[in-house]
Amino acid sequence: MATDTMKAVVIRTKGGPEVLKVEERPVPKAEPGQVLIRVKAFGLNRSEMFTRQGHSPGVDFPRILGIEATGIVEHAPGGEFEKGQIVMTAMGGMGRQFDGGYAQYTVVPINQVKAITTPTKLGWDVLGAMPEMFNTAYGAITKSLQVTKGDRLLIRGGTTSVGLAALGIAKGLGAHVATTSRRADREQLLREYGADDFFVDDGAIAAQIKDQDKKYNKVLELVGTVSLKDSLQCASKGGIVSQVGIVGNLWTLDNMNPMEFIPRYVHLTVFGGWIEEFMDTPFDDIIQQVEAGKLKIKVGKVFHIDQIAEAHQCMDDNLAEGKIVVLTD
Ligand SMILES: NC(=O)c1ccc[n+]([C@@H]2O[C@H](COP(=O)([O-])OP(=O)(O)OC[C@H]3O[C@@H](n4cnc5c(N)ncnc54)[C@H](OP(=O)(O)O)[C@@H]3O)[C@@H](O)[C@H]2O)c1
Repeated sequence: MATDTMKAVVIRTKGGPEVLKVEERPVPKAEPGQVLIRVKAFGLNRSEMFTRQGHSPGVDFPRILGIEATGIVEHAPGGEFEKGQIVMTAMGGMGRQFDGGYAQYTVVPINQVKAITTPTKLGWDVLGAMPEMFNTAYGAITKSLQVTKGDRLLIRGGTTSVGLAALGIAKGLGAHVATTSRRADREQLLREYGADDFFVDDGAIAAQIKDQDKKYNKVLELVGTVSLKDSLQCASKGGIVSQVGIVGNLWTLDNMNPMEFIPRYVHLTVFGGWIEEFMDTPFDDIIQQVEAGKLKIKVGKVFHIDQIAEAHQCMDDNLAEGKIVVLTD
């Protein structure tokens, strides 16, 4: 190991992006059953924004945030991984119950570490965008919604990083995909990444779909509870609506009457990617598809770890148009 200390982003008090401070910390040590990862890049997630704002119950400060990381193995005391192997990790309490990926090194349990075996020329910015984004998008599209060729899919919240990744995956599966944004000027971006239909989300998309056969048999709800009722109305008979995100910031529904809320013959479900889903995500295949140009991936903005407050401000302001990635070197 080159050094005994590392840069880490530590939060000591809740607040705006400015509460995230880069500190010099001892490099953590891995025990048997754990891996020490030299983090090369980490993606930003809205759950980290909520934790920063003090909305994550059970998270004590000070804490190194970060529910994901990408890098190379520095040390695995149990010999499960070789030094130098490229790995990705996510979830399992990272950055919440124990220190996470916003650092130059992180220690995580072996059961949430995915080794990348395919040789790759992709940069750390692209690899660093992948863990949680594809854990969620791949799981939502293939497991929760079970999208197949010929499906008509509506992605509500199309410019989210998860939405853009889901768009690429669904197009690759041969689906007809509609996406949304609150901003009309984002249509071009979404069409560039494969969207067949586009809606400006004014909260009432169902009213814009006149014919029953123009409805969608799969709906990926990323805006969340605030638009869920309208998304259910966008679904065709027998269709599935999966709520995966909550960018709309409304967490619960008061006095919801299911008989009135859910249209007849429409199925409502949810998806959350935990360790099992993460380990099940075919990252080697995804990397090969990205390298071959078959799967388009949208890295939004890239920052250096010293710019962590700026990176969080960008997330707060919804300006990234894709995954925000932070490099640690
Ligand atoms: N279930 C899971 O396992 C899981 C895992 C990861 C993430 N998630 C969730 O998935 C969602 C997407 O995450 P992400 O990191 O991909 O998001 P993101 O990239 O940070 O999303 C940014 C986009 O959200 C849209 N947006 C922001 N506020 C909005 C509002 N009030 N109403 C409607 N749209 C709004 C904006 O789109 P426009 O300005 O273009 O409209 C913006 O471009 C989040 O809710 C996240 O918590 C769930």
